[in-house]
Amino acid sequence: MANLDFIYNRKSVRQFKDTKIPKEDIVELLNAATYAPSPKHQQNWHFVVLQNKDIINEMADIVTKSHEKIGQLAKDEKDFKRHMSVINYYTCFKDAPVVVLVYSCEYKMIEYKILKQNNAPQEVIDVLVSPQSAAQGIGAAVENFLLAATEMGYGTCYMTGPTHAKAEIEKLIGFEKEGYELMSMISLGVAQDNTPAQPPRKPLEDVVTFID
Ligand SMILES: Cc1cc2nc3c(=O)[nH]c(=O)nc-3n(C[C@H](O)[C@H](O)[C@H](O)COP(=O)(O)O)c2cc1C
Repeated sequence: MANLDFIYNRKSVRQFKDTKIPKEDIVELLNAATYAPSPKHQQNWHFVVLQNKDIINEMADIVTKSHEKIGQLAKDEKDFKRHMSVINYYTCFKDAPVVVLVYSCEYKMIEYKILKQNNAPQEVIDVLVSPQSAAQGIGAAVENFLLAATEMGYGTCYMTGPTHAKAEIEKLIGFEKEGYELMSMISLGVAQDNTPAQPPRKPLEDVVTFID
């Protein structure tokens, strides 16, 4: 039997020890990320590595403010409370010694160009782009990173929640690459002792269909 412990042992970690991560380990994880498949091998990703505690903390403040701003729009107290109750889910990267911001650029498709030039109806274009291939490539790269980190003894969390503050985050870190946008982030570090176990999975029969 193949040893898949690195898959089954991965879990989202949201509390980290204050342990510095060696740069060569971060580089190894980024390299593993780039071995992910990507649509037509366009490798449409870019990784920005943050290790400065002040910047990471400031980013958490920015995300909190943006989250509160959205909360102010809630039409009733119940929605407001529900919204605010997940704030830690969006800012739990703040204890991590490393945060990797994952950017993506557009997945270029010749089919898209052809259909557009022929004024194809929007429904046809929608079907073409519905797999969101650029985002799927990012997901593959992030998962490679997470699994490699698990194998190397690190804790990680895959996060998209904080990206609602992407404009302010970009201003803070001063990173710009034309055509690229922030898709997700990964917090990385040594997990604190006794972090929560991974939640149970749906039974396979609920999520799998064999067609013979
Ligand atoms: C696309 C994506 C976005 C996620 N965003 C967040 C997030 O913003 N904050 C967070 O704490 N966890 C986030 N997670 C982690 C999930 O909550 C977690 O994977 C799920 O609860 C299952 O737990 P496990 O990773 O421990 O198995 C995200 C996961 C994925 C795949």
